[in-house]
Amino acid sequence: MQRRDFLVSSVAAAGMAASFNPAHAAGRERVRLGVIGTGMRGQVLLAELLRRADVEVVALCDIEPINLGRALAIVEQAGKPKPRTWGEDRDPQAWRQLLDPSRIDGVIIATPWEWHAPMAIGAMQAKVPVGCEVVAGITLQDHWDVLNTQLKTGTPYMLLENVCFRRDVMAVLQMVRAGLFGELVHLQGGYQHDLRAVKLNSGDPARPYGGGVEFGPKGWSEARWRTEHSVHRNGELYPSHGIGPCAMYANIHRGNRFTHINSFATKSRGLHEYIEALGGKDHPNASVKFALGDVITTTLACANGETILLQHDTSLPRPYSLGFRVQGTKGLWMDVNESVYVEGISPPHQWQPFQPFQDRFDHPLWKRFAKSAEGAGHGGMDFFVIHAFVESLKAAAAMPIDIFDAVAWSAITPLSEQSIASGFKTLEFPDFTGGSWKTRKPIFAFDDRY
Ligand SMILES: NC(=O)c1ccc[n+]([C@@H]2O[C@H](COP(=O)([O-])OP(=O)(O)OC[C@H]3O[C@@H](n4cnc5c(N)ncnc54)[C@H](O)[C@@H]3O)[C@@H](O)[C@H]2O)c1
Repeated sequence: MQRRDFLVSSVAAAGMAASFNPAHAAGRERVRLGVIGTGMRGQVLLAELLRRADVEVVALCDIEPINLGRALAIVEQAGKPKPRTWGEDRDPQAWRQLLDPSRIDGVIIATPWEWHAPMAIGAMQAKVPVGCEVVAGITLQDHWDVLNTQLKTGTPYMLLENVCFRRDVMAVLQMVRAGLFGELVHLQGGYQHDLRAVKLNSGDPARPYGGGVEFGPKGWSEARWRTEHSVHRNGELYPSHGIGPCAMYANIHRGNRFTHINSFATKSRGLHEYIEALGGKDHPNASVKFALGDVITTTLACANGETILLQHDTSLPRPYSLGFRVQGTKGLWMDVNESVYVEGISPPHQWQPFQPFQDRFDHPLWKRFAKSAEGAGHGGMDFFVIHAFVESLKAAAAMPIDIFDAVAWSAITPLSEQSIASGFKTLEFPDFTGGSWKTRKPIFAFDDRY
């Protein structure tokens, strides 16, 4: 702890870009990027990069030839030059060769979770700026290692948390900043997404989701790796889509911080029942014991007196919802019923539809770039997350979702596992900022360029 504290405080004090090569930090018109992991998500992000005139995709790496081939086809369809490729030999370390700062100005990491920390650390050590898909690491130590590498090297790092850029989420950010809800008191979010057909599928790359209950080597895409986490881990496994927006609303690391955390887990039924229903009771996977509770409920306490409740719910039948609620002394917003209540504005005790608030508080970024975001992934928000990364790189500006956000949001996972394993104990939340949260000022979405 002492060494960590020293690293955090000394390097943070020295100014985070201390040892980053200024040649790469200079403002510029275009950036050359590489993508590691060209699976389901990597292909979406690649398509976003290819839509931009200020990005050259010069390098791709994947150890699954089908996905590397699909990525090359996307590049060809976009009429862009063929990037150099790595991973055809299925060498899981091939990505290291892509990290040549004389050839690339940044790298997008869209691989399975267990690869994020080693790949981000390798890239930052090579002085290649990182845009990393959620999550930042697996163990708590991973998170300290990613943080300390960033602080030591000064290489830019952004967590590519796209939900922070959802149109309603950003309008609510404007409402929070305008004081519409008064002083914030309580927030909720989560990842409530029926992933049974993703975690258990046919394994056929041409039609993976048309039934089937395979995972591991016999599965396809996330069933190859994500499902193992449900077998062995019990915790809030995917916190950032829920916590990201809540953390921005509550100014976490910018005048506020998480101080405590605890988690509760229900029994585990959903994945097993799904296997029995689709594969039959005699299917070999019907004997798999899943550690992950079907609903994980996590509570965080914040230094300024707010609580944040997160729910992870991926194994039961249900429509998708991130379950946001933002509540203050004057009113609240909930996304599940797309409604708002503001005392003095709304009829007493009655919900009002969100749309008029959306229209009035639409974020300047959305107003400016809605046309460019048309057709982009996840209702347009994937445009914005890539836009923020690319524009920040070009301008050598601070990343809007930075290393402290990345590690704290993502460390919720190992801490929630620890809480559940210890009989739902409340734990102290580490201060990854080494105290600088007290004086850091909010920057997210204050600039209408990115
Ligand atoms: N932000 C979002 O909305 C969103 C959506 C989906 C997925 N994700 C995240 O994106 C990441 C990837 O998920 P996915 O759905 O694309 O999974 P996927 O399994 O479809 O793709 C992962 C790819 O990484 C490749 N890979 C594995 N090990 C590698 C290595 N050592 N070197 C190079 N390539 C390697 C695999 O071959 C595969 O093609 C995950 O972190 C996931 O949580 C984010």
